[in-house]
Amino acid sequence: MIPKADRLKQVKEYYFSKKLREIAGLIATGKPIINIAIGSPDLQPPLEVVAALKNAMQIDGVHKYQSYQGIPEFRLGIADFYKTNYNVKLNPNTEILPLMGSKEGIMHISMAFLNKGDKVLIPNPGYPTYASVTKLVEAAPVYYNLSEHNNWLPNFSEIEKEDLSKVKIMWVNYPHMPTGATASKLAFEQLIAFAKKHHILVVNDNPYSFILNENPQSILQVDGAKEVAIELNSLSKTFNMAGWRVGMVVGTSEIIKTILQVKSNMDSGMFLGIQKGAIEALKLPANWFEEQNSIYRKRRELVWKIFDALGCTYAKNIGGLFVWAKLPNGEKAESFTDKLLYEKEVFITPGTVFGTNGEGYIRASLCVNSAVLKEVLTRLTTKNN
Ligand SMILES: Cc1ncc(COP(=O)(O)O)c(C=O)c1O
Repeated sequence: MIPKADRLKQVKEYYFSKKLREIAGLIATGKPIINIAIGSPDLQPPLEVVAALKNAMQIDGVHKYQSYQGIPEFRLGIADFYKTNYNVKLNPNTEILPLMGSKEGIMHISMAFLNKGDKVLIPNPGYPTYASVTKLVEAAPVYYNLSEHNNWLPNFSEIEKEDLSKVKIMWVNYPHMPTGATASKLAFEQLIAFAKKHHILVVNDNPYSFILNENPQSILQVDGAKEVAIELNSLSKTFNMAGWRVGMVVGTSEIIKTILQVKSNMDSGMFLGIQKGAIEALKLPANWFEEQNSIYRKRRELVWKIFDALGCTYAKNIGGLFVWAKLPNGEKAESFTDKLLYEKEVFITPGTVFGTNGEGYIRASLCVNSAVLKEVLTRLTTKNN
């Protein structure tokens, strides 16, 4: 047996990868498991987007390698999108790099800036990929606490008690997954001031800004943000295109060039048809977001009822594709979700997937249609099920 690389010793198999295998096994034995755990949009992408992908098949050279930086029309589309939706001005030639989703960007950014032994500030709770990628590049995670009583925002005086001298990157993600908390302009200003004070690159991972969020924001709206901050964004959730793998990193040209130095050595340009589809998506008017959100709002009402039936408490004024809820009576997240899975045949995410501060919480997804959510409610409220 060839021994695996040492860097893998610190990275476990992803919780969902293991759990979904167990669930597939249960389904194979005939159990009608309902999964309301995963945030993969079930709604359709815009029709114009699919048409643009199909039409692209007729373009001469469509099957060839594409530019590492994406076609100019796509970068222009991203620049227009940022101007229209966030009032952020980006140079389409130097300040935008298309990516295969924001997840890919987490690895490229980490490889571009981290040396072995560097430290990285990572939200707890937060998206697990920040920590696993940090470990894969042999840097060290320094978890910062997010808590309900601080509206899931960083507590800078607590963070400053740590030795920050080796910290190079801080991951932030507002609207926040899994809690749905949003950051005010003031909170972003404080983040930028903190990053400047400690010479840290702040990366805002922003894939949820248009989902159930009244006020979509970019961290780059803050004056002077480009000196220390970049942003990841994605079409996965905004336009129901998770499987297409299309996103972007935006920021000042020096940083984008450094990330391109990594990316251009790892992969090649995005398929032309995907770029053409993405261009159409980015042009959509505001009523696209309104239509999606009206569906998510109805689903969210049902998820609230599900959480009421479970005796959970939750905040209603949150954004993103999930509802985050506190369990009753100090229940533990994984034993609670396992009990639901085995007794009610419903799978919900335990908050501990996102870090130790997720203990005592669970997360449900809005990527499940109302009929299925009603069935979950029936299962929870019917005795002897
Ligand atoms: C916080 C966060 N960042 C990034 C991603 C990855 O998104 P993408 O499809 O753009 O890679 C997800 C997906 O679930 C997410 O929740």
